[in-house]
Amino acid sequence: MSKSTPHIKPENNPIAETILLPGDPLRAKFIAETYLEDVVQFNEVRNMFGYTGTYKGKKISVMGTGMGIPSIGIYSYELIHTFGVKNLIRVGSCGAMQEGINVYDVIIAQGASTDSNYVAQYGLPGHFAPIADYSLLARAKKLADKKGVPNHVGNVLSSDIFYNANKEATDKWRSMGILAVEMESAGLYMNAAYAGGDVKALGIFTVSDHLLTHEETTPEERQTSFTKMMEIALEIVE
Ligand code: ADE
Repeated sequence: MSKSTPHIKPENNPIAETILLPGDPLRAKFIAETYLEDVVQFNEVRNMFGYTGTYKGKKISVMGTGMGIPSIGIYSYELIHTFGVKNLIRVGSCGAMQEGINVYDVIIAQGASTDSNYVAQYGLPGHFAPIADYSLLARAKKLADKKGVPNHVGNVLSSDIFYNANKEATDKWRSMGILAVEMESAGLYMNAAYAGGDVKALGIFTVSDHLLTHEETTPEERQTSFTKMMEIALEIVE
């Protein structure tokens, strides 16, 4: 019988060891159609579309994760523990929090701080620091520099809250050097850490909005910076 989970039912279609994880399942479809060859669809449960194909001869999958740590927590856990996925690369957007970062820049999440309680499940006697896999991180940085893509490496905030009633929260995180806010990477990094050994994770983002300058991207500009981020993500794993 083919492997399946409550949320991923591939029905014998393959899932690659390397997967790109956008939040939006229609983004996953777009990535598969635009960048991959010989594509097969491996998931449609809850319309969380997943596809596998090849990029320059490398087998690679792409699947939506939904929004927030609980959602990416479910999908990445099942991908790792049932389907043997080893390299999980979140590709998304983020809101910049520092001067000196512009909309369209690329952020590479070295660390992912969070206001989520996801880490409580591990019962650790202290505070865990969710971090990216260094080999994926170093390669992403090298590729971004080589392509001349403006990029920033550092700590992001994976927040549970998009509409935050605590108006001071952003300033406090900013004062600790957080580059940008998104909503998933800390959960992904924790799941990778919990899996241990050879499971690697990285989050890379394009800046879609700026919390200080309130500058926003147009759909065309978003597409251009998305393309740059995708070119990096697709080439990270050799
Ligand atoms: N993703 C993109 N922009 C964001 C923001 N401002 N807050 C949280 N997640 C985001």
